[in-house]
Amino acid sequence: MSGKIPKYFINDLLYRTNIVDLINTRIKLKKKGRNYQTNCPFHHDKTPSFTVSFEKQFYYCFGCNIHGNAIDFLINYENLTFIESIEELALIHGLLIPFEKNIISEKNDYFKKQKLYLLTDQISKLYQKNVILTNSACEYLIQRGISKNMMKYFYIGFSSFTWDLFSKKLNIKKEFEKELLDYKIISINKNNQIYDSFQGRIIFPIHDKYGRTVGFGGRTIKNISPKYINSTETNIFYKSEQIYGLYQVKKKNSKPKYLLVVEGYIDVIILTQNKIDYVVSSLGTSITKEQVKILFRNTDTVIYCYDGDNAGKNAAWRTLKITLPYISDKKTVKFIILPENEDPDTIIKKEGAENFQIRIQNALTMSKFFFKNILKGIDLSSNDDKFYLSVRALPLINCISSDTIRIYLRQILARIIGILDDYQFEKFLHQKKNNNKVLQYKSKQTQMQTLIALLVQNPNLSNLVTSINKFKHSKIKGIPIFLEILKTCLENPKFNTGQLLEFYRDSKIINILKTLSTLDHMIVEDKIQPMFLDLLKSIYKKNLEKRQEYLLAKERTNGLTIHEKKEIWSINKKIKNS
Ligand code: UTP
Ligand code: MN
Repeated sequence: MSGKIPKYFINDLLYRTNIVDLINTRIKLKKKGRNYQTNCPFHHDKTPSFTVSFEKQFYYCFGCNIHGNAIDFLINYENLTFIESIEELALIHGLLIPFEKNIISEKNDYFKKQKLYLLTDQISKLYQKNVILTNSACEYLIQRGISKNMMKYFYIGFSSFTWDLFSKKLNIKKEFEKELLDYKIISINKNNQIYDSFQGRIIFPIHDKYGRTVGFGGRTIKNISPKYINSTETNIFYKSEQIYGLYQVKKKNSKPKYLLVVEGYIDVIILTQNKIDYVVSSLGTSITKEQVKILFRNTDTVIYCYDGDNAGKNAAWRTLKITLPYISDKKTVKFIILPENEDPDTIIKKEGAENFQIRIQNALTMSKFFFKNILKGIDLSSNDDKFYLSVRALPLINCISSDTIRIYLRQILARIIGILDDYQFEKFLHQKKNNNKVLQYKSKQTQMQTLIALLVQNPNLSNLVTSINKFKHSKIKGIPIFLEILKTCLENPKFNTGQLLEFYRDSKIINILKTLSTLDHMIVEDKIQPMFLDLLKSIYKKNLEKRQEYLLAKERTNGLTIHEKKEIWSINKKIKNS
């Protein structure tokens, strides 16, 4: 797949990227010696096992062994595909990807996306200009208490265009109509007339993290059903991965202490207007795993705020279940359940910002919310009910990966059920503890493995190899790979580990390289060079011995040519001198 983007471009991207910065903007890194460290984001990590090396442009976790270069980090951390992570890096450096000429589909896809970003942006600007010109829209927004500032801050717009006007204003060519129809940005009615499906609606543009408009939400101002509509999914708009308002939050604070998740667009806007600077929404649908991951990538504490009606309470419980697997000692959730028939917008208008702040401060902790809900309808004097409770609660508790939190919740559960002794509780539950210890790489290393590992981890060692010819025709296992990597390092003298791995991403030897790139050779920094030279020498000697053995065997069976006799004589001398 990576062949579709020229290697030189990928290499250039990696050359421009500083992996420390790339990771540091997502997880705070601490400098430790020559490297940077933090708790591993990919496994439940109590000590900082995650290490990032500037020199190697490479990350590695001693706990779970995950590792790679900047591209791998984006693939693993942001759940991107290879191409998407290249796109992301290209965007950071303001570069367009020079797709190879014969690759039509990815290239088309990419340019289609760029075209779509441009178009949604133009449409958004048009809607935005139009809102000020339309009395009914302004009146509606004023009546909802939305200030001019917020209208600007959230790029609120209004659509009132007939198709003719719309296409004229955006200068849309006839042949582009089909694409707009495909993306359902426009629709066709029964009379075969094209129209803007958002017509008559206040427009809430939805932005990605770079501030690009990716889609729209639209609210009717005339009680037409449905009350809200959202853009259909396109190449640039995946609803399950979008969070409304996050772009605005991060404009003010790149690492907010909290994120308050509310249900509606207007709720986000009104709370923001009331100086709560960390409000977002999940586009009105029930929250998805992807959204939870994004939330936790941006903050340590997520506070969900739901309406007090049954639908809201059910949504809150569903949200907790989706969030549980992502909770850790550092990442927590809290819940605010509002009084019935209120949403954040109505209640803050009624009781004022200060009182709403108190609600935020008093948000229920995860464990309180969990037990409050799970105990509903349970009669603790009945053994059957107690058992039912544990059957319901345990699978949920067990999906928490943090030992401390899981044990804590189990202890609370045991206390509620009335069993104080751990052993008794285990018996009651018949629960087997699953032992998910991380498998560690422990196999014994050969000299050859260490040699290649040193080279992969320090590509500039290649300069120390004076003669490649010495190893030609070698029968020692691993030599061909060593020579292959050596050649690449010599041809690309500036390569670091990350770039070297990238070079081999689609090759057969990538897995060997990846394993060796993280091999813990236990060699201290200033001993690496001498060690590398020693290993080279030792392997060279082994190589000579093998050749010697072969020639001696041949001498006994078939006899040697004069040339071979000279060779064995020279080998004997070399071995003696080494
Ligand atoms: P609500 O029905 O709670 O509306 O929907 P609201 O946010 O209070 O809206 P206002 O105050 O009447 O304007 C919450 C969210 O659910 C989505 C929207 O994102 C909305 O903001 N929704 C709602 C839809 O997508 N479609 C609908 O028909 C209704
Ligand atoms: Mn509302």
